[in-house]
Amino acid sequence: MLAVHFDKPGGPENLYLKEVEKPSPGEGEVLLKVVASALNRADLLQRQGQYDPPPGASSILGLEASGYVVELGPGCQGQWKIGDPAMALLPGGGQAQYVTVPEGLLMPIPAGLTLPQAAAIPEVWLTAFQLLHLLGNVQAGDTVLIHAGSSGVGTAAIQLTRMAGATPLVTAGSQHKLQMAEKLGAAAGFNYKEEDFSEATLKFTKGAGVNIILDCIGGSYWEKNVTCLALDGRWVLYGLMGGANVSGPLFSKLFFKRGSLITSRLRCRDKKYKQMLVKAFTEQILPHFSTEGPQRLLPVLDRVFPVTEIQEAHAHMETNKNVGKIVLELPQ
Ligand SMILES: NC(=O)c1ccc[n+]([C@@H]2O[C@H](COP(=O)([O-])OP(=O)(O)OC[C@H]3O[C@@H](n4cnc5c(N)ncnc54)[C@H](OP(=O)(O)O)[C@@H]3O)[C@@H](O)[C@H]2O)c1
Repeated sequence: MLAVHFDKPGGPENLYLKEVEKPSPGEGEVLLKVVASALNRADLLQRQGQYDPPPGASSILGLEASGYVVELGPGCQGQWKIGDPAMALLPGGGQAQYVTVPEGLLMPIPAGLTLPQAAAIPEVWLTAFQLLHLLGNVQAGDTVLIHAGSSGVGTAAIQLTRMAGATPLVTAGSQHKLQMAEKLGAAAGFNYKEEDFSEATLKFTKGAGVNIILDCIGGSYWEKNVTCLALDGRWVLYGLMGGANVSGPLFSKLFFKRGSLITSRLRCRDKKYKQMLVKAFTEQILPHFSTEGPQRLLPVLDRVFPVTEIQEAHAHMETNKNVGKIVLELPQ
């Protein structure tokens, strides 16, 4: 089968399609014939040699995929049958013509969505769901500040925040991205390149601050984050795009707010946790991708690339051009 491959860490120019051995499903696994996968920041880091896959995971890039079940491994519980369309959360291996998946990490395709649209759901929607509900304990009436509001995770988090009865605020680096976030339901957006988002957030909340911050930036935002956090606020850190170093009185500022700093990494969680998350998401959230009406959830697709253009797809994400997800189509 063909799979996205690189021989040495480096830039997008190192990526190419390579003929590799097709995997076989093990105990409790199914084989998925991949129609589409999607790109994540983790793929860029792995390509640069800065993010190894967790032990036992495929070294092929790709944290999510959609396609058809084509083989059942021993011990499968009958949840899936050959020919079923499905989408999957993966620790790696999605950017290939076939991938093996534990059956509990597959989800049905919501009615009305295409397979390329479905490929844009697992990684960022499960992440946003986990950050908001399992870690941030979002409540109706909360205000939630979502950084990188037009990212894959951000576009999902805005919609899930609205659905929880809370108010999403976003930051982003351009007017176009802020407008897209507002169309998805953000109550206000702040261009972090042009204004101090903590001052703007405090003004919007009449001095109260936000109850939850979903933060994939880290270092460069720490002081502004803690400044606009409400008393008893939850600051959920899940990425370090703005660096890992902090210089200044973080502890006293956080302590003064009685704030909680919570960190999260989904990819390296064990199978049991991921199965619990997939089950909760499938039951509570997935039906809302198919309902008619204002609460309908939508995966936001920026562009669909044929996987033969994998270098262009990485360069597009690396230069922060995407609003929502970059999807890759595999040859059939
Ligand atoms: N911990 C986990 O379990 C987990 C799971 C999934 C994703 N993530 C993390 O979530 C983040 C978003 O992932 P994604 O795939 O959704 O990203 P994405 O769609 O590629 O969007 C990322 C956006 O972040 C903004 N950005 C980049 N560098 C920045 C900086 N230094 N300061 C401020 N904004 C910056 C850019 O938008 P602007 O033009 O607005 O600057 C960029 O387009 C990444 O850090 C990723 O690693 C973590």
